[in-house]
Amino acid sequence: MKITVLTGSPRKNGTSNYMADEFIRGAEEKGYEVYKFDTARADIKNCLGCNACQMGSKPCIHKDDFVELREHLVNSDVIVFVTPMYYFGMSSTLKKVIDRFYSIDPQLRNKQNKTVLISVQHAQQEFVKDALNQHYQAILSWLNMKNAGIINAVGIESVEHLKQTPYPNQAYELGKSL
Ligand SMILES: Cc1cc2nc3c(=O)[nH]c(=O)nc-3n(C[C@H](O)[C@H](O)[C@H](O)COP(=O)(O)O)c2cc1C
Repeated sequence: MKITVLTGSPRKNGTSNYMADEFIRGAEEKGYEVYKFDTARADIKNCLGCNACQMGSKPCIHKDDFVELREHLVNSDVIVFVTPMYYFGMSSTLKKVIDRFYSIDPQLRNKQNKTVLISVQHAQQEFVKDALNQHYQAILSWLNMKNAGIINAVGIESVEHLKQTPYPNQAYELGKSL
């Protein structure tokens, strides 16, 4: 099984990357092939809405890191979205990558991938994750993808704190269970 993991935090050693690594550890133990893509560091241009790609029948005009990512996305069985909670949603760098899905929209819709969402938020309040989860479900329903698991790590103060919660083990088990 091929898995593409899209991470969304600029903090390399932050909480959501820790969760991503635990997920990957589980998936790799199971023998799955994992490609990790750091949306916060990659050279990804904004979708210009120019429609030169004609929503998937022609290549995107940008020649950036999406060229390589695109091959992984269209050949993956599972796409994993990992993000810190930023103002009740995903980070802008992850969203920027998702906007570029426009140029491979039909290919993704035909594949009917499984997907996973992993988020980490500081707030204790459960409702803070609701808008992100709804957004994720709406994207899935548009792209004919199937949710294989959501982990919302809530009330997290630091990586040290995260390690004392059940969330990293949940990510590890989810990686193994796909
Ligand atoms: C720009 C920004 C916006 C944030 N917005 C929220 C928010 O709306 N709700 C929340 O609970 N935490 C919010 N946080 C806190 C982060 O979600 C939290 O610290 C998370 O663990 C960071 O993930 P990371 O360690 O992977 O970068 C925000 C942090 C930043 C830097």
